[in-house]
Amino acid sequence: MTNLTTKIKLGVIGCGVVATRDILPNLVQPAIKKKGVKLVAVCDIIKSRARQTMRAFKAEEMYTDYMEMLAKSDVNAVAILTPINLHYPIAMASAKAGKHIYVQKTMTTTLKEANTLLATVKKEGVKLVASPGQMHNPSLKAVKTKLEENFIGRPLWGYIFANNNGHIKERTDPSWYYKPGGGPVYSFLVYSVTTFCWLLGSVKKVTALSGIVVPTRQWKNKRINCEMDDSTMILMDFGDSVFVSAISNFCTRDVMADSAIYGTKGVIQIPLEAIRSTQHDPMQVSLYALKRKIKSWIKNLKFKTNGWVEWSPPLFSAPYSLASPSGANIIADIIEFINCIVKDEEPTIATGEHARHVIEIFEKAYISAKTGRTQLLETTF
Ligand SMILES: NC(=O)c1ccc[n+]([C@@H]2O[C@H](COP(=O)([O-])OP(=O)(O)OC[C@H]3O[C@@H](n4cnc5c(N)ncnc54)[C@H](O)[C@@H]3O)[C@@H](O)[C@H]2O)c1
Repeated sequence: MTNLTTKIKLGVIGCGVVATRDILPNLVQPAIKKKGVKLVAVCDIIKSRARQTMRAFKAEEMYTDYMEMLAKSDVNAVAILTPINLHYPIAMASAKAGKHIYVQKTMTTTLKEANTLLATVKKEGVKLVASPGQMHNPSLKAVKTKLEENFIGRPLWGYIFANNNGHIKERTDPSWYYKPGGGPVYSFLVYSVTTFCWLLGSVKKVTALSGIVVPTRQWKNKRINCEMDDSTMILMDFGDSVFVSAISNFCTRDVMADSAIYGTKGVIQIPLEAIRSTQHDPMQVSLYALKRKIKSWIKNLKFKTNGWVEWSPPLFSAPYSLASPSGANIIADIIEFINCIVKDEEPTIATGEHARHVIEIFEKAYISAKTGRTQLLETTF
């Protein structure tokens, strides 16, 4: 039953790991519930999963076909949490059905798709919030302020490492991560590149190397053939001689990720904790602060004489508790989505234009790797 305070009647499409671990448990948080969100429908091509999710999160309806859900259900907003290569057709169908759209990263896999989707969203007058929106995170806002204050002087280069084991330990079948539209770039590097563009501006040119390191993977008893590159290096030229290198693969035992921006006077280290999450328990915040203090004390001893500075942002504990801390950055996106609908505003952080620019970087990087030629970018945000 929906009531008068229900402003968002949500349909969730895709009931896998992110839906059931990160998003749905957190939608019942009081801070989010009181904004007027009601889970009306869930949809998954696996019927048992749709049914289980409907029961666990007390949705009213379940579907196995998203087109049927869009046609029959009274939802006014959808959260698209399917494999990446399905984001585009589902988002297009949702926009045409007049539904507001929250789409997980990466929004689409090609610039052409992104352009068509943004034009359709505009034409249909619906809202679109495109994950990842971790730039809501106060740690990253602190980094942006430091850069604006010229703390490290003129930025000139940076690096990103975004590597993991390729979701091979997930509880759902990760085969799609190894098909076109999957891979470490669309699924993991996207966080850091989106963040770096927010901090440094649009990329002007890209050059890349890319390939397959492990041709077959094993998930439970299933053999997965790798059809998507599992190892990619991208050089990004932000213009004005600001260069960033990014390394992303599915070939490490666990998550190995880090990043930094160097300037003429020093460096800002941006650890993964600051990029992915806004929710840390107080113990984690204290340990991180202690580590940071010891590190900067040692560095300062070493560098004091030549004026070099090293800094990393503090972590912040979010003002609300989450059922799943790993979903903290996702919840920041969703709150932006909810606010946009409730206040009839356009997003300012997790925007479709920002997502489109990152998609163009990735698409052009793969073209560069194939052709051996540097590619120029056409979009900004
Ligand atoms: N796994 C992560 O750590 C992580 C983190 C953040 C975001 N994401 C993003 O979340 C999304 C989902 O990732 P996941 O890891 O939960 O994947 P998953 O494979 O666990 O879940 C995807 C679900 O979509 C369903 N599905 C497939 N085709 C469908 C269709 N046509 N209609 C309806 N449902 C369909 C699948 O049956 C599955 O249940 C992706 O966009 C991914 O990039 C993943």
